[in-house]
Amino acid sequence: MAVGAGSPRTEGFRFRRLQKPEEFRQVEELRTAVWGPESEVGVPTALQRALQDNGGIVLGAFADIYLAGATISLLGWDGSTLYHYSHLTVVRPEYQNHGLGFRLKAFQRDEVLKLGLSEIRGTFDPLEGRSAGLIVRRLGARPDRYFSHYFGQLDDPVDRGLETDRLRWVWPLADVRVEERMAGRLPSSEDVQRRWAGSTPIVETDAGESGLRVPTVVQEPTGPSAHLEIPFDLASVREHEEAGVRRWRHAVRDAFRAAFDLGYAVDDFAVLSAAHERRSFYFLSPAPKPSPPASAGP
Ligand SMILES: CC(C)(COP(=O)(O)OP(=O)(O)OC[C@H]1O[C@@H](n2cnc3c(N)ncnc32)[C@H](O)[C@@H]1OP(=O)(O)O)[C@@H](O)C(=O)NCCC(=O)NCCS
Repeated sequence: MAVGAGSPRTEGFRFRRLQKPEEFRQVEELRTAVWGPESEVGVPTALQRALQDNGGIVLGAFADIYLAGATISLLGWDGSTLYHYSHLTVVRPEYQNHGLGFRLKAFQRDEVLKLGLSEIRGTFDPLEGRSAGLIVRRLGARPDRYFSHYFGQLDDPVDRGLETDRLRWVWPLADVRVEERMAGRLPSSEDVQRRWAGSTPIVETDAGESGLRVPTVVQEPTGPSAHLEIPFDLASVREHEEAGVRRWRHAVRDAFRAAFDLGYAVDDFAVLSAAHERRSFYFLSPAPKPSPPASAGP
């Protein structure tokens, strides 16, 4: 099945479930190419086979027999809702930022809807702007919980030396807003600029020693709209301002915890460009209060 046209670089890619043992092995090889051999986030090939045949979904983006990206999800159950839990999404470095991640998730959504389920959940590192751009802005999923040091210490190049905090996201697949985002109806840069100007900062930032932004103050959100800044490019901060990464981790953790405790919910994410600088923000607003249970009457 082909999903969307994609960029010229990824035109002609096919999206399908993996079937052969050598295809499952390609996922592990791809995962190692992105996270390194030390990474613990992999899914052994025998487990991929087991998932594929028992309610899970292992799917890939192929150029002929070459696997350029993959995503793996499994059945999840929280005591009241049956959903799919997205454990891994990965695109080969040379194909990143060409829409393959989006098309993989679109195909995963179709497959989960076919199973008769209407929700996918997952987690990502809240400091990773590219993940937030894909999951929150492009797919319309909503982060709703903050987990501190979720996986404990991981020894891959991305997580090494940093507490593995994660944002849990929920993606209601048939939601009108999700349909809009999947169809590419996104806020314009003017809308984003207006929203930013009309909302209060939860994390204030300033240039650190290397010139890259680092957080200076965290404050509670107030009013109908707030924004929460993260680094535009975490890898650059890691490279040029090592202590800054930990400052970001702790500031963003405190900010999300305060915001969720006060009943705020994340409803968008965007990158703003101003004065030759790109800055990344989550947008939050007070979550609607759940309606009280209907009275049983006298
Ligand atoms: C995360 C990943 C799966 C996304 O796949 P991809 O093919 O690169 O993603 P896409 O091109 O479909 O979408 C990325 C979006 O983020 C945007 N983006 C890229 N860099 C960004 C940044 N620093 N800040 C914010 N947004 C960014 C892109 O512009 C794009 O949005 P657009 O479609 O509106 O232009 C892939 O980059 C990857 O494998 N990364 C390493 C593994 C990883 O982190 N996996 C966790 C996934 S949650």
